Amino acid sequence: MGRRAAARIIRPVVEETDIRERIEGLRERVRYHNRRYYIEDAPEISDAEYDALYNELETLEGEHPELLTPDSPTQRVGGEPIEGFVEVRHAVPMLSLANARKLDELREWDARVRRLLGDDESPRYVTERKIDGLAVSLRYENGRFVRGATRGNGAVGEDVTQNLGTVRSIPERLDDGPPEVLEPRGEVYMTLEDFERLNRRQEEEGKPPFANPRNAAAGSIRQLDPKITARRPLKIYLYGIGEGAGDFESHSGMLDALKGYGLRSNPYRLHESIESVIEECEEAARQRESLPYQIDGVVVKVDSRDQQLALGSVAKAPRWAIAYKFEPLAGRTKLLDIIVNVGRTGALTPQAVLEPVNVGGVVISRATLHNEDYVKEKGILVGDKVVIERAGDVIPQVVKAVTEERDGTEREFTMPTHCPVCGEPVSRPAGEAVTRCVNARCPAQALEHIIHWASKTAMDIDGLGEKLATRLFDLGLIKDVAEVYDLKAEQLVPLEGFGEKSAENLIRAIERSKDQPFPRVLYALGIRHVGAVTAGLIAGRFSGSDLMRGVAVEQLTEIAGVGEVVARAVIEYFGLEDNRDLIRRLIQRGLDFERDATGPAEGPLVGKRVVITGTLGRPRGYFVGRLEAAGGTFTSSVSKNTDYVLAGEEAGSKLEKAKALGVPILDEAGFEELLSS
Ligand code: IVH
Repeated sequence: MGRRAAARIIRPVVEETDIRERIEGLRERVRYHNRRYYIEDAPEISDAEYDALYNELETLEGEHPELLTPDSPTQRVGGEPIEGFVEVRHAVPMLSLANARKLDELREWDARVRRLLGDDESPRYVTERKIDGLAVSLRYENGRFVRGATRGNGAVGEDVTQNLGTVRSIPERLDDGPPEVLEPRGEVYMTLEDFERLNRRQEEEGKPPFANPRNAAAGSIRQLDPKITARRPLKIYLYGIGEGAGDFESHSGMLDALKGYGLRSNPYRLHESIESVIEECEEAARQRESLPYQIDGVVVKVDSRDQQLALGSVAKAPRWAIAYKFEPLAGRTKLLDIIVNVGRTGALTPQAVLEPVNVGGVVISRATLHNEDYVKEKGILVGDKVVIERAGDVIPQVVKAVTEERDGTEREFTMPTHCPVCGEPVSRPAGEAVTRCVNARCPAQALEHIIHWASKTAMDIDGLGEKLATRLFDLGLIKDVAEVYDLKAEQLVPLEGFGEKSAENLIRAIERSKDQPFPRVLYALGIRHVGAVTAGLIAGRFSGSDLMRGVAVEQLTEIAGVGEVVARAVIEYFGLEDNRDLIRRLIQRGLDFERDATGPAEGPLVGKRVVITGTLGRPRGYFVGRLEAAGGTFTSSVSKNTDYVLAGEEAGSKLEKAKALGVPILDEAGFEELLSS
């Protein structure tokens, strides 16, 4: 979430008698802007303006605790931990869905629906993407959120009111006169980007990663400590109503009504025929891997409420709905071996060598096992049958061993005591889950570092890609990134594939990279946890020599967006003699280590404000990094001051607003073009 609490704000003195009113007014405004931001994805004010409102409310409530009420929008941090969950009996059972694995089964289902409805009633269908998360029910009484429960076994679930109360897209109050009792139902989920970020955080904290976004969402909701749930980036999409459904004539009308109440309801499409439904299923399957969240199929529902009632339910599922399910993104195969990779930062990662297996259309032969503890805790042995899963672009992972199928030939994995690449002893600091090779001259790190250094988002050395870097490294021509700047055209010309011209071009590209500003250089150093954005933040405050002289954790964490983990990594990096030596050599060769006082002074997007919206081919952070590296500023809402909008699929209201204001709209290709202009 882009929203942070800002510093305390200055405000005029307010008469005691006005305070209650003022607090209520602020609550209304914060609620309104929460809705624009978290539910409609269409903020009207900047984060700073929002922070100012929020902080004023929080300050006033702090000074007047007697006026604090649990429904205040400041009360989303989660209350005290509980012993266990209380059971909730669902007034209307939470049904499940019949599945179709083949498109033909949808045609059969359509035929059955038509037969049951009789000839003169043609069904209209609604399709929704089937999000893979956790089913929950929300109970609103007189427009107030009073209870939230998990689906459980469909008849009885668990009371998770406190936890759901921390989910930003679940409003505390509804708008527009909902029925007295309304029980919207839906799926709590986590986007792939948030899931990856959460897993990285879990690993940094030495906690086990989640297997997939569904487990992460379910685990977060079934937390006994609501403060933990409050820190998890959960979202909800509502797809139905339990109690209170009687008021609606159609499913689509009900989804629209939910939206009107200020709830995030599932996007849907209407279809007049099953063939149109099938086209939608095919399209969803194609889009599956590029959506920001994981879906496991498409839910098809009869739209008319009367027809739904006429069709009724069998056992645990309604006859009026069906789920078309995709191939699962999980598979089973044999774990042939565990090898250990050494990354750019020296982290040793156990990697599974698998008997190749097709998982949702991709053949997988390698998967990550994260770290030593993960392998131990999961009890995974070499030779085991294992279950693997992949989620979007995330590296596939081994999630468990199928222990029932062991035959006694399996063997335990042990982490090597020496780096498999350089042979130096490895270390695993107390309290950390990661084993590292700490030899800064380790070739695995050096080569990975050279590749990163030359890459487009770092120093952008045109022509020095992974292949050539590996070749030059293997030939002993470059042993670290400083030596890249000592390369001579004469050394390249004799190499196969090089002529005089291409050799000179590469040397020129290398020379040109010396003009890259310090934020890029800092990012290119490949310090743990320091991505392009963070590097920019640090470089705006400190020069290379400041960092070499030594800064305190507190000095770094003073920078908004820089946390303690980052600060420690930076300090550790600049403290190591090998790294200091490398930096001195880079300075000698003319690289820029000066503080970046103004943000990037050059770059095609200097001074440009860009909004990024919709589903893009890569995580949004990637585009933000590219944008900032080119001198641009990322902003969250579209206004007349916006210079460009980069819009992906399903861009929605921001795109509309941009069109209305005449702001230039870019797709990914257009964005790349602009960057290279
Ligand atoms: S409708 C009576 N709609 O799928 C119909 N379910 O197998 C009840 N799900 O437990 C469910 N997206 O967790 C429905 N758009 C959607 C859904 C959806 C995901 C999940 C839900 C349910 C399971 C049914």
